[in-house]
Amino acid sequence: MRLTRRTLLAGLGATTLLPRMAQAGTGGVTLTAREGRVQVAPSAYPETTVWGFDGQVPGPLLRATQNDRLRCRLVNDLSQPTAIHWHGLRVENAMDGVPGMTQDPVPTGGHFDYDCRLPDAGTFWYHSHNQSAEQVARGLFGPLVIDEPDAPDVDHDLMVVVNDWRMTEDAQIHESFGQMHDLSHGGRIGNYVHIDVTPRPETLNRNQRLRLRFLNPSTDRILQLGVIGLTGWVMALDGMPLETPAPLADFILAPAQRLDAFVDVTAGDGETAMIVQHERDGTFVLDEFPVTGAGTSRPRPAPPALPPNPVIRAVAGPDTRHLRMEMEGGAMGGLREGTYKGRKMSMRDLVSNGQVWTLGGVAGLPDDPWAQLERGETLRVTLVNNTAFPHAMHLHGHHFHELRPDGPGPLRDTLLVMPSEERDIAFVADNPGNWLFHCHMLSHQTAGMKTWIKVA
Ligand code: C2O
Ligand code: CU
Repeated sequence: MRLTRRTLLAGLGATTLLPRMAQAGTGGVTLTAREGRVQVAPSAYPETTVWGFDGQVPGPLLRATQNDRLRCRLVNDLSQPTAIHWHGLRVENAMDGVPGMTQDPVPTGGHFDYDCRLPDAGTFWYHSHNQSAEQVARGLFGPLVIDEPDAPDVDHDLMVVVNDWRMTEDAQIHESFGQMHDLSHGGRIGNYVHIDVTPRPETLNRNQRLRLRFLNPSTDRILQLGVIGLTGWVMALDGMPLETPAPLADFILAPAQRLDAFVDVTAGDGETAMIVQHERDGTFVLDEFPVTGAGTSRPRPAPPALPPNPVIRAVAGPDTRHLRMEMEGGAMGGLREGTYKGRKMSMRDLVSNGQVWTLGGVAGLPDDPWAQLERGETLRVTLVNNTAFPHAMHLHGHHFHELRPDGPGPLRDTLLVMPSEERDIAFVADNPGNWLFHCHMLSHQTAGMKTWIKVA
């Protein structure tokens, strides 16, 4: 049997997982980055040797309450240095977990204590930010839920992690890291998509309301997901509540993005509710849940919006500082030259340095920030995709929104920009420090698509 996503059609879903939830809020938790063995592929295949937090993939679901603190000790039992980035959390800069910028990488045998403020409730995640294209592909990521002080009214609160794996025929991680063909195209795209639902209900009852917290931690794959037998609303994107919940339809989840949905079970007694993935060659069942007629018998009214997080929304006017961020390079991109480590190079020399993408003409992290901002300053950025590939642009330490012709878009921390698109975003630079701004296709980031901003 060949290991392809086709096997999912046979109804193979999530592996059964022990409940593993760590309360990070009060006393704190320890996460040990180490090798582990996980049943990723269907049970006919061997376990996969991974690098995971506590040896698990996804890592333990960390949970804390808004305005509490997240205290976490990272212990490194891997052969490579590592660090944890708290993706989407508006933390103090020193806790952002970016080696070489906010901390030293944690060496083998070492540890680092994170202590993060939690101004926002929502669905976030954590992942390695050291050699991340390899370390995240090996499994160094996990979900992070910050609860609202008043829990919204749902029957099940489920974390749904959908990850793309590139595996060998015997279900081991394919050691093809850093191949120039992947780097210069759509990245390291895998051959097996795995879903993990935590905690996983055995059955659902008709009219139950679920909160589904979708996360795409894949290094490079853009997912198109949907539900069947479940009907509901998009409540939040990238951890930030929508002002008005929107009806849930099939949706795109780029690497690093999250989507919170409230869905009611509309499948009938004896039917199944499903989470599906759409691909060019068909629709695949990722997971399914038998539905019984028992339980809440009456449908509930539409949910009110989740309480807003205390993000200051940027208001961009004619006097707002405005920069263009040109994305260039990659296969079929026609890039001739770019600056790398302060030197102007031909495309050929860039490639021999493993670089193939530029942001604002520069590949890799420049010595000087791409933008230097006063604290509290508003910046408008036009993201210009002059490449033949989509890019999931992510800003650390802040949430931005899109300036659309029809008004401000939702707050996000990662925005997918399609080839030849121009997208306008704006944010208030209210978090002092040095913050990365990069493509979350981690293969692209490795091959040049990263820069940084400095907030005084
Ligand atoms: Cu998800 Cu630079 O991070
Ligand atoms: Cu990219």
